[in-house]
Amino acid sequence: MKIGILSYRSLRNRASEEEIELKKIARSMGHTCRIFRSQRFQMVYDQDSPWLLYDGKPFPSYDVIIARPSILSNVDLHISLIEQMEMAGLLVFNQYEPILKAKNKVKTMQILDHYGIPIPKTVVIRRPEDLKQAVEKVGGFPLIFKQPVGSFGAGVVILESMRALKSFLLWDSPLYLLQQYVKYSKGKDIRIFVVNGKVVGSMMRAAPRGEFRSNIELGGVGRPCEITEEEVSIALRSIQALDLNYGGVDVMRGKDGPVVLEVNSNPGFKALEKATGVNIAASIIEYAIEYGERHRQFMI
Ligand SMILES: Nc1ncnc2c1ncn2[C@@H]1O[C@H](COP(=O)(O)OP(=O)(O)O)[C@@H](O)[C@H]1O
Ligand SMILES: [Mg+2]
Repeated sequence: MKIGILSYRSLRNRASEEEIELKKIARSMGHTCRIFRSQRFQMVYDQDSPWLLYDGKPFPSYDVIIARPSILSNVDLHISLIEQMEMAGLLVFNQYEPILKAKNKVKTMQILDHYGIPIPKTVVIRRPEDLKQAVEKVGGFPLIFKQPVGSFGAGVVILESMRALKSFLLWDSPLYLLQQYVKYSKGKDIRIFVVNGKVVGSMMRAAPRGEFRSNIELGGVGRPCEITEEEVSIALRSIQALDLNYGGVDVMRGKDGPVVLEVNSNPGFKALEKATGVNIAASIIEYAIEYGERHRQFMI
């Protein structure tokens, strides 16, 4: 099978460790695998030309493409390439719409809540007059403020008082997401990795001293952890609600049970592999092969 990895890393940098590992695993299983860099693509709208050029030549036909959209801004513009691949009939995952939903924390909360998946109390406001009521709704201070698009803990802020909150919000943005601070979990959360409707690995991440965010990029430390049936169930339902083929679900253990903080459509897996010894890259490649084969049967 011909497996492509679509990397969104800047051309100044190498492909990510994850992308390189996926390539190695796929090749070790006897498949053709190549990393494609998003910036080298052209999308062409001309009756006489193929839609997609790579390095100026027609994009070769690959059976399945694993997208790694490691982008933090202008998400919709960046991933229009993925949408173009879908329109051109290429089999690519995760897909455009699910990535768009997962990359925006407002959209994600909207959808999870719609499907009855537990999340921390969240209020989205647009004007100063609603601040007081929103603060009460999310359980007072401290509370969490989140930028709709962000990753690695950037754009996630804890605010301790109305004075801090008022001076922090500039009211120059279309909306503001305020969220209940899940205190009970004491800076720990669980990353649950789902591939093909199954949990393939999970780890507990603890925030370093003096930090409330447990992201590995901020010094959070991961260790293997057993998760409950309820946690498995909400992770699978979250992935399904967003229509992701695979993803990472961040879950916190709240006073009244687990709540989902966010869903990642391009989750890293090196730290998880290190903490648990599970070969996540192999699960993703096995899934890509199965997905590609299922699609091929369907096409015949
Ligand atoms: N409501 C919350 N209560 C307590 N801690 C939170 C809450 N939301 C996020 N955090 C902490 O901040 C980290 C980053 O938040 P998250 O929503 O996962 O955004 P990011 O996309 O930046 O990882 C989480 O892993 C968790 O440790
Ligand atoms: Mg996160």
